[in-house]
Order: sequence, then C-alpha cells, then structure tokens
Amino acid sequence: MSYSKDVIDRVIEENDIVDVVSNYVSLKKSGKDFKGLCPFHHEKTPSFNVSQEKQLYHCFGCQASGNVITFVMNIENVGFKEAVEFLADRAGIEIEEENLSGLEYQKKKLKDEIYEVNRLAALFYHKYLYSKFGQAVLKYLYDRGIDDITIKRFGLGFSPANGLELFNYLKRRNYSTEILLKAGLISKSNSGSYYDRFKNRVMFPIIDEKNNVIGFGGRVIDDAKPKYLNTPETVVFKKGKTLYGINYAKKSKEDMFIIVEGYMDAIALYQSGLDNVVASLGTALTIEQGRLIKKYKNTVVISYDADEAGIEATMRGLNLLDELDLNVNILTVPNGKDPDEFVRKEGFDAFKKLLQKTDTLIEYKIKKYKEDLDLEKPADRIKYIKKVCKDLATLKDEVKRDVYISIVSKDAEIPENTIRAEIDQFVKGFLQNNKKN
Ligand code: UTP
Ligand code: MN
Repeated sequence: MSYSKDVIDRVIEENDIVDVVSNYVSLKKSGKDFKGLCPFHHEKTPSFNVSQEKQLYHCFGCQASGNVITFVMNIENVGFKEAVEFLADRAGIEIEEENLSGLEYQKKKLKDEIYEVNRLAALFYHKYLYSKFGQAVLKYLYDRGIDDITIKRFGLGFSPANGLELFNYLKRRNYSTEILLKAGLISKSNSGSYYDRFKNRVMFPIIDEKNNVIGFGGRVIDDAKPKYLNTPETVVFKKGKTLYGINYAKKSKEDMFIIVEGYMDAIALYQSGLDNVVASLGTALTIEQGRLIKKYKNTVVISYDADEAGIEATMRGLNLLDELDLNVNILTVPNGKDPDEFVRKEGFDAFKKLLQKTDTLIEYKIKKYKEDLDLEKPADRIKYIKKVCKDLATLKDEVKRDVYISIVSKDAEIPENTIRAEIDQFVKGFLQNNKKN
C-alpha cells in the first residue's frame, strides 16, 4: 500500500520541520531561519540551515537538503513509507485505518493483538529468568559471556518447564485461547488441552524494524532436540522474511550490516561493541531479507559458519544479494569457529581485524574454486578459468575486472588477452539469453 498525495501533504503540514529537527539538532534562531550543527556530517561551526517558512533544510557544508520527510529518512535511516508512518505517528494522524478496507482493518487489528500478547509473553519470560526458577539459566547465559545489560537489551528470558504458566498468565489477563494460538505461543495437545509452545528454553524475542515482537526463538539448555525452536508461521512471523537484530542495526551509523547465522552470534558481537549486526536465523538468505537489508544499507559483510554443508546454500544467498546490487563481502572466521565463539575467545580487536580482511564476492569465489581444484592439473586449470571468467563477466566495474584478470592470469599462467576473450564470450552469451527472455 502506498500513501496518497493527500496523506503525505497532511503529514508534512502537521509536522513542523523546526520541531522535528530540534529533536536531533540544537537549533538557534538566525534571521528568519534556524541554524545548527549538521547531523549529516562532522562540523564545528553550524552550517545546517532550517527554514520554517519554506519547511526545508539545507546544509551549506555537505549540501544535504530536503523536507521533513527526507530529514527523517536520513536521520532515522528509514525508507519513505516508514518516514511517513513515523511522522504520522508523531502527529497522531491515523493514516492506516482511514485508508484501509474492512478486511484490511480486521487483519491489522489481529496483528496488533498478536504484537501485544507477544510483548507480554516476552516480559513474562524475562521476569521468569530473573526469578528463583531462572537461576540456572541465568548462570548458563553468564557462562556464555552474556551480561545483564545485554540480556535486558535483547529482552532474553526463560520459559517455565511445566508448559502451563504462560498460558495461565495470559488467560488471567483475559486474552483468548484463539489469539494465543494465532500468536504461536501455545499449542493444542492430542487430548485437546492447551500448553505453552516453549518449555524450559532460553527465550529470544524476535523484534521487527518497527519494534514489534513478532516471534521467538527458544534454545534448550541441555542436549534435547531441536536445539532451537522457533515460533511457527503466523500472520506476523514468516520465516526468512526477517532479520534478528534489525531493530537495533537499522539505527547504526555504520554504512554496512554484518550478517551472521545465529542469535548468539548477533548478541555476542553486539556486546563486544558492534551495533550493526543482524542474524538470518539459520536459513539461506532470502530475497525478502535482501530487500530488508537494501532498505537501510548497500554493503554487507557475511560471517557464516564455514561448514561444508552451508557453503552451497551460502553461495546462493550471496548471489541473490549480489543481484540486488548490494556490495557483498565475506568474512571468514578461522578454525571453524562461529563469530560468537571467536569474539569471546579472541576478543573484539581480533574480530575487527577480520572485518578489515574480508573478501569481495568474486575473491571469495576464486578462493573456493582454488580450494576445490588442483591448478597443477591442466583439466582443473581449464575449469578454473571457465568458472572465474563466467563470474567476471557479471562484474560491471571495468577497473575491478582488470584487477582480477591480472590475478587469474598469474594463477593459471594464461595470457590476459585470452582471459579477456573468454570473458567476452560469456558476456555475449548473457546478452543473448537476456534477449530470449
Ligand atoms: P547453530 O546450530 O549454528 O547454533 O544454528 P548457534 O547459533 O551457534 O547456537 P549456539 O551457539 O549453540 O547457542 C544457527 C542458527 O540456526 C537456527 C537458529 O536461528 C540458530 O541460531 N537453528 C538452529 C534453528 O532454527 N533450529 C535448530 O534446531 C538449530
Ligand atoms: Mn554458536
């Protein structure tokens, strides 16, 4: 759903730009305008100008300029639609409801109710973790190096073992069995009774970019299976459509996201000092996750477990991000550790060093090919050249292409021109395929 011009005009009208900017920048009156230190670049003397009359801002230092909506987009790191919603909320304009059909309205109400019970459940689990029943689990988290601040920040909790307490708690608060089922918080047993879905697990609330609790992951504290249990598909929770930690990462000033696999990887990296980490939660990256990333950043660093099984799936995910025109970099954690284990053992500075030694997607692929092939053997050498040339044919940047051509030429002991000709063949092939489609 996109917003009508009327709605957008109203949002602009009812959010005075000076008011909004003042939440972020200390403004002083200067003639008929206002001046302050620009929030979009570093400066010591104010060159950020806000005109109340025109409802526009302009920075004479970095040339940033726009209206109240672009200001929110840039300062909050959100897209147009979210900026409009942000400002509508701020001004108390009910844009959704008045534009929704009856059916859409029902759906939105259901979603809001699920967010509400999920939030209550998260609070319940969190409190339970800090009760006398949660002591062992709290110790488990401390032993894994997680401190109280981080536990609070991520709202970690513990679900009671008997499988009834959350259900009873929410029933006492007059929530219907139906809504608890729809939220995926309870399940129905064969005998027809209801019980909590999550029992005796460390609880990780999954929060979306609008700060809604959309679901949970629950980890066992012993060797039971499955190790992680997640909320089933609900109207608000779709596997592969969200990224754990997006609620924090979207606010990061860094110009890229670090993507990890697991909850604990994201949490450990946050605690060590990074604020731009998201976890894909075990699945290969999906197009929806790619788009979610693209909404905020155009560069990603992927730091996945390097187990063989995962590499093929990882590769598919990486190609997908590449096709979305994201700059994809790969960080390889040495010795088969996951980022959580690595940062805990080796420390933050060691991880920062890895961050400075990432491979681009092409470099990563070249490395993988070399691992699988023996360049001493002619047949493998041919395979190697063909594979790399095919990849290089997709590279739009001529300079980058030239750099890799020179590398491959040395690796395979083949003249650069031969490689160039081979790449051209692939380019022609791609073009013909495109025509057919
Ligand atoms: P891992 O098995 O690599 O676990 O799964 P982990 O993240 O390192 O967990 P710890 O350190 O043992 O606590 C990676 C991610 O895959 C998903 C979870 O999101 C997990 O964080 N997963 C894994 C599941 O959804 N279910 C499972 O049974 C296992
Ligand atoms: Mn782990």
